[in-house]
Amino acid sequence: MASRTDTSITIDIPLTRESPDLLNAQITGGLLGCPKTLPSKLFYDEHGSTLFEQICELPEYYQTRTEHQLLTRWADEIVSLTGAEELVELGSGAATKTRVLLDAMTKAEQLRYYVPFDVDETIVRRVSEELIQEYPGLQIHGVVGDFLVHLEHIPEGGKRLVVILGGTIGNLSMQAAKEFLTAVNSEMASGDFFLLGLQLIADRERMEAAYNDTQGITAKFNKNIIRVLGNTFGSEIDPELFDHVARYNEKDHRIEMWLRSRQDQTFTIPEWGLSVALKQGEEIRTEISTKYDQPLTDQLLADSGFEMVKWYADADNLIGLALAQKP
Ligand SMILES: C[S@@+](CC[C@H](N)C(=O)[O-])C[C@H]1O[C@@H](n2cnc3c(N)ncnc32)[C@H](O)[C@@H]1O
Repeated sequence: MASRTDTSITIDIPLTRESPDLLNAQITGGLLGCPKTLPSKLFYDEHGSTLFEQICELPEYYQTRTEHQLLTRWADEIVSLTGAEELVELGSGAATKTRVLLDAMTKAEQLRYYVPFDVDETIVRRVSEELIQEYPGLQIHGVVGDFLVHLEHIPEGGKRLVVILGGTIGNLSMQAAKEFLTAVNSEMASGDFFLLGLQLIADRERMEAAYNDTQGITAKFNKNIIRVLGNTFGSEIDPELFDHVARYNEKDHRIEMWLRSRQDQTFTIPEWGLSVALKQGEEIRTEISTKYDQPLTDQLLADSGFEMVKWYADADNLIGLALAQKP
């Protein structure tokens, strides 16, 4: 764990400092694999984060407003049960729903410290500036990193609640989620609490509609990964030469987003000597969103070293919030 400083906002950026070859290995390995994949963290440059905020407002995207309502209903209880004075959020993004927890902590006179941890530097900086204005006296220590790699950069702390919201855990397979949460658990102190937001297995039509919105915002978000590859690594490939595809995979209970090539084309990143041929109709998987139910969540948390404290879900069983503790 990193050490703490006394200024109101500290931003640590292990992302660009460490593992320069990691992205190369992840991207190259994914594009040469079967099926072809790209790491979904690549969606999130400044433009991608803005598109995700727009997705959260879409009528079809029931997930954000349902999780917001659930948090609003239970935040006081969660804050009281945990007694937390510090909030650490992995994949914090715009931290919109986080404010519900921060408000409840303020009301209980418990709020001291917030750690937003995200791969997108622009959003960590923006949220830190916003929150310092909204919550006078709050200490913020942002971390710009990959939570699969840089967890040890979470600063040391006191009575703490670690949260992952927005279905972010669903972007990992169940096995990868277990490994990730085991690593999160090992960064926590005994007695710390953990709040995990989960998108639950729902009616297939409803789930697929959430990723195929009529305004085409999710399609833009999906294609942004190609834009980011161009801007960051100099790949010369046109996002508009792909179609957005999102469908439910029943066996793995997850929505999968794919980019389907409109024509035969070659994907190149000259700097890395990478050249990948794509046939017309061939697909690259860009994101999975694994859906859970309560028994699967119980198992995931137990396998990762947590004890379940309380399960919250909305009346339609669309979103679950699992409150757990490190024994
Ligand atoms: C689905 S969004 C959720 C955002 C926010 N927590 C919410 O509930 O609306 C996922 C967030 O996790 C971040 N993210 C994705 N992969 C990441 C990674 N490997 N390491 C750190 N952050 C990541 C993205 O930048 C994005 O802000």
